[in-house]
Amino acid sequence: MLYENIGTTENGHLSFCNLDTVSLAKKYGTPLYLIDENGVRTRCETYKNAMNQYFGPGSFPIYASKALSFKGMYRITAEENIGADVSSGGELYTAIKAGFPPEKIFFHGNNKTEAEISMAMDFGIGFFICDNFWELENINEIAGKKGIRQKVLLRLTPGIDPHTLEAISTGKVDSKFGVAIETGQAEQFVKLALDLENIDLKGYHSHVGSQVFDGKSFVDAAEILLCFAEKIKETYGYTPEYLDLGGGMGVPYFDKDGRIDYVLEIKLIAEKLKAQCKKFNLSMPNIILEPGRSIVADNGITLYTVGGRKEIPGFKNYISIDGGMTDNPRYALYGAIYTVLLANRIKEKPNYVCTVAGRCCESGDLIQENVSLPRPERGDIIAVLTTGAYNYSMASNYNRVPRPPVVMIKDGVDYLAVKRESFEDLIRNDL
Ligand code: LLP
Repeated sequence: MLYENIGTTENGHLSFCNLDTVSLAKKYGTPLYLIDENGVRTRCETYKNAMNQYFGPGSFPIYASKALSFKGMYRITAEENIGADVSSGGELYTAIKAGFPPEKIFFHGNNKTEAEISMAMDFGIGFFICDNFWELENINEIAGKKGIRQKVLLRLTPGIDPHTLEAISTGKVDSKFGVAIETGQAEQFVKLALDLENIDLKGYHSHVGSQVFDGKSFVDAAEILLCFAEKIKETYGYTPEYLDLGGGMGVPYFDKDGRIDYVLEIKLIAEKLKAQCKKFNLSMPNIILEPGRSIVADNGITLYTVGGRKEIPGFKNYISIDGGMTDNPRYALYGAIYTVLLANRIKEKPNYVCTVAGRCCESGDLIQENVSLPRPERGDIIAVLTTGAYNYSMASNYNRVPRPPVVMIKDGVDYLAVKRESFEDLIRNDL
């Protein structure tokens, strides 16, 4: 199997973390998100230990919680002693309510509102990752009113193309995120940060994109940032304490997809960085990485029940499931590829080609096309693998479909982490 947490039971069912997925579907109903808590913890440790070993003790990962955000995830990452990247007031609020230590929170986003900035400061969060000039002035002003000096990293765009989907590529000069080095604006950004009284400039940030398999993109970005850091040191005498290289390490979604060895990648980036620092006569900054997808994606799967089969002679076969773009919009949005299996008949020949369709009033509501399965029957359970990242967090209530529950599995025991939304939940805010 493609992932360690996936297997087969004796009665021919798909297992996840050694539990029978068909029994879990029966117990909690479908659609259902399942998350492998041990797998999530192991990935946090992999990043933490490798970064500590290769970058040095002041370096650490912060979990990009946009990938999968609910209270339980913040509790787990807090216990794993890593930081959290939040990108909205909502993620921040959830983290705080889960008891996440505020000093380890890094606040992202290209348009933080004044209310969010103020709330984050009142919570006492560690760092703002500042996106632009206006925001910097805003943070300075609000910090001044509160009588604090706010720690800040500046988001810079290194001008890198990470060869991933356009929609999730962010490091190019033409990006809505950050301030470009190439245009000379980044230097002005730093100058402003150094001039502002209530800003405590701690370093630089860049994020080249998501689902990146080419480790060279990170090395290239780091090299550009270090080159920039050297120039700033020469001109303004400022040396960054932190260099945050963002998230983005890729995850395989199907058997022919690329693979990335996170430890090896960190080791290679560290070697290159150390050599660069030597060349530029800079002391090695503490490194921060912001993994999201690579913490959770392959630690999650989704289960659905088959409700309909439509065979259109000369065209194609449709299998309708009880979820769709409302719980996983990634095929509709990006044409994202997934591995789809028939969980209750896992050993049968997958010789029936079909399109797996969701239940929304939208032709584009598909989970995957040209999937090979044993010919599905009504009531069969469909499993979609690698749905831990950007599924629950991107779910919507389109067509007033309630969001599915999230069930976590720890040490072979399943427990409910997020309840299934009810129809009552859907009308809660309607007046
Ligand atoms: N840091 C920053 C500043 C980011 O913008 C992101 C992702 C991350 C870290 C985490 O990247 P990761 O390690 O998860 O690749 N909805 C899209 C992905 C959008 C990614 C947005 N930013 C998808 O479903 O593929």
